[in-house]
Amino acid sequence: MRRNKPPMQAQQADANIGLFEAIDTQRALRYVKPDPVPDRYVRRIIEAGIKAPSGGNSQPWEFIVIRDPEAKQKLASFYRRAWADAEQGQPTQPDTVNHRSARHLMEHFASAPVMILVCLYTGGENPAFYDGSSIYPSVQNMLLAARGLGLASVLTNGWSKYEPEIRAALGIPEQYRAAALLPIGYPDGVRYGPPRRDPLESHLHTDRW
Ligand SMILES: Cc1cc2nc3c(=O)[nH]c(=O)nc-3n(C[C@H](O)[C@H](O)[C@H](O)COP(=O)(O)O)c2cc1C
Repeated sequence: MRRNKPPMQAQQADANIGLFEAIDTQRALRYVKPDPVPDRYVRRIIEAGIKAPSGGNSQPWEFIVIRDPEAKQKLASFYRRAWADAEQGQPTQPDTVNHRSARHLMEHFASAPVMILVCLYTGGENPAFYDGSSIYPSVQNMLLAARGLGLASVLTNGWSKYEPEIRAALGIPEQYRAAALLPIGYPDGVRYGPPRRDPLESHLHTDRW
């Protein structure tokens, strides 16, 4: 008897890839299908997030998994407002692939089936420069885990001008700040692959600058 095969998407998502393959091909994928992402993948991504280092092992993170269409619409509207504010006075935007895909994400933000908002404990203070060093390693682990599971994602904070409004909308306590919002879904017509980067030599110094 033929056994039922899992759908192709699930087969891809369960595939294991090597660490360096993940690092060398992780990039911002902003076009996603509406198909739901299984809970176990969302949990796996967050499990990867909490394996990251943090100063003094303080683990200053909280994760909000957002699937509610209304909540997603709210986040999308803050993102659109922040984008429109930034565009004012800069009517000519560069017509690059990156900008087009960023615009697509902004216009379709709420259509990602799931988002993870990563929050940082700051005690209520506005985060100082080095505070990010205890949260963004976690975010990068999550992006790599999403890549490992064949899921598209991208770090966003283009909405940060409206971070206080987002905190209010989602009931985030005053002691925390929203640090990164990851829209996650199955890639729609886009693929992971080597990111465009300057050659290493152009950024490398030996023994002194
Ligand atoms: C701190 C930070 C904030 C970012 N914010 C946004 C964002 O708000 N919207 C977006 O579409 N991409 C955002 N990105 C993704 C970058 O635009 C993207 O990583 C960069 O252009 C390089 O592209 P690649 O990751 O595909 O190589 C952000 C990335 C970082 C590290």
